[in-house]
Amino acid sequence: MKGAQSTSGPIRWPAEAVWEAVSPLLAGFTVEVVPEIDSTNTELMRRARAGHIDPVLLVAENQTAGRGRLGRQWFSGASESTANHLNEGPLPSLMFSLGLPLAPHDWSGLSLAVGLSIVESLHPELQLKWPNDVWWQSRKLAGILIETASVGEVRYAVVGVGINIAPRDAEGLSTPPASLSELLPGIDAPATLARVAEPLVRAILQFETHGFVAWRAAFHARDLLYGHTVQCSDGLTGVARGVDASGALLVHTENGLRKITSAEVSVRPASPAHPI
Ligand code: BTN
Repeated sequence: MKGAQSTSGPIRWPAEAVWEAVSPLLAGFTVEVVPEIDSTNTELMRRARAGHIDPVLLVAENQTAGRGRLGRQWFSGASESTANHLNEGPLPSLMFSLGLPLAPHDWSGLSLAVGLSIVESLHPELQLKWPNDVWWQSRKLAGILIETASVGEVRYAVVGVGINIAPRDAEGLSTPPASLSELLPGIDAPATLARVAEPLVRAILQFETHGFVAWRAAFHARDLLYGHTVQCSDGLTGVARGVDASGALLVHTENGLRKITSAEVSVRPASPAHPI
């Protein structure tokens, strides 16, 4: 199986099909599936810092130290006691990172383009919560963590995606997460990977050439926050009014329209009167 390796057990991953679809787009592309790792993002960032910058899709059946945005943890949904941890049942989530050298003119809006690609590959009812959460019916269904490393003259991007596939516990979250199987009964992690992988690579390459502007209208159609009163973690409050051509969140405040660009700002509904 050239360019596609799996050290996982009985789960049938579409590694070779993904490799065949993507390798014409990305020279040197490989697919790797591993049963367990600390974090697929951490691993690709480690490799990049060691000088390994070939394009790769790394899929993990379990992560022991999955990471989310703003220093949060990302839980795979598997536990020591569940059968799926032992490769004996369907996986509760799909976790992968795509690493590739990338040179867009402007990086702003990349996470929105990635989110759009994911929702468009999965279901028309899915929405995006700026900057990069996928939500369904007021609950988070998937998260995206994008990191970059400079390796000599090259910027290497690591695009990590975690998608809840099966229903799971709230795990300390205020809202229990949504799962894809609620929307697409019978879907599993390998079938989800088969749907999202190639479109995601195409979307990132399109972003590299054209920037975020090509996705702005599509983002508006999926924008969960539009028209809702939001409160940013930096204290700013106002009504969300979509995004600008660079993907910055527009918030109408009492002092006028403000642009939120910082990835370090989290946005949430301002009060229970405006539940999302
Ligand atoms: C978030 O919701 O804050 C982002 C979650 C991103 C989770 C994915 S799972 C695969 C990849 N590896 C990680 O450690 N994180 C991302």
